Amino acid sequence: MFAVAKKLREAGVLGLNERNSEFIMRLNPRSLYPRVDDKVLTKQLALDAGMPVPDLYGVITNQGEVSTFPDIVTNRESFVIKPAQGSGGDGIIVVTGRSQRKRDCYRLSSGMIVSEGEILYHLSNIVGGQYSLSGNPDKALIEYCVRFDPVFADVSYQGVPDVRVVVYRGYPAMAMVRLPTRASDGKANLHQGAVGAGIDMGTGRTLNGVLDDEVVEDHPDTGALVAGLEIPHWTFILESSAKGYEVTGLGYLGVDMVIDRDRGPLILEMNARPGLNIQIANGVGLTDRISRIDAIYNASASPGERAAVARREFQL
Ligand SMILES: Nc1ncnc2c1ncn2[C@@H]1O[C@H](COP(=O)(O)OP(=O)(O)O)[C@@H](O)[C@H]1O
Ligand SMILES: [Mg+2]
Repeated sequence: MFAVAKKLREAGVLGLNERNSEFIMRLNPRSLYPRVDDKVLTKQLALDAGMPVPDLYGVITNQGEVSTFPDIVTNRESFVIKPAQGSGGDGIIVVTGRSQRKRDCYRLSSGMIVSEGEILYHLSNIVGGQYSLSGNPDKALIEYCVRFDPVFADVSYQGVPDVRVVVYRGYPAMAMVRLPTRASDGKANLHQGAVGAGIDMGTGRTLNGVLDDEVVEDHPDTGALVAGLEIPHWTFILESSAKGYEVTGLGYLGVDMVIDRDRGPLILEMNARPGLNIQIANGVGLTDRISRIDAIYNASASPGERAAVARREFQL
């Protein structure tokens, strides 16, 4: 165990202890956490900064409001329900349509049909805090269901891929795209079984993937190659994630974006404790990139300038 840790450190792979003590403690003041730990607030902050987000259809803030759900979605065929303070994809349901026979039955991304009663029960659990980080009562968001860009058609199974960018002191440092699988049930979270693929920061082109900490070349359900995809709107994605620094004030930040086929890149959420498996997906450690950013750091550089630096410095 010790030998493995040493080897990883020598390879410049950032470990959990180091991440927590060096970066999260030093660069992310606790007082700023609410900005990213509540998705309703994050959405508002992003909108205020002129960043595109999935439209919010409604928020259910207490048990009494659960019954307003049918009104919120009355003219909607598809939508996503999620806990405001959730993480790791838990408690999220992606509704892609309605049952043809009964309008108050909903079709999930997996094809499963659920009744309105089941949705109300789920909303009640969300509001009760079942999925909230703190365990305290929570809110449920109901928002626009993203339709992914066609570039992902062959490498995504019944769900929307997301692009995660780790941003250090405002500079994009590393990125990956997470691709939903049969196991991940419409969500792109690695814990749920999605595949993560590293991205060449210079070109926005994908590298090999990682599934449960193992390197994979093709998507487990579709068989398509994971490497060599060109992420659309790459420059915009890097600039938006760099801007996440101004929006949140967090010096060590994960920005998650999805790419809608009509609306382009949208901010899904931001994270104060981004995971470290992005390093496995990229086959490189974060340590060198972080040192490089410290060396070239310029406090007056704009988000666009910082994104351009990242493209140049971290091109493979
Ligand atoms: N509006 C949406 N439309 C389609 N898929 C979504 C939407 N919101 C979330 N998802 C899916 O669920 C995953 C997790 O969503 P996210 O908002 O990042 O919550 P969490 O904090 O649980 O990771 C996303 O990566 C995506 O695959
Ligand atoms: Mg997420």
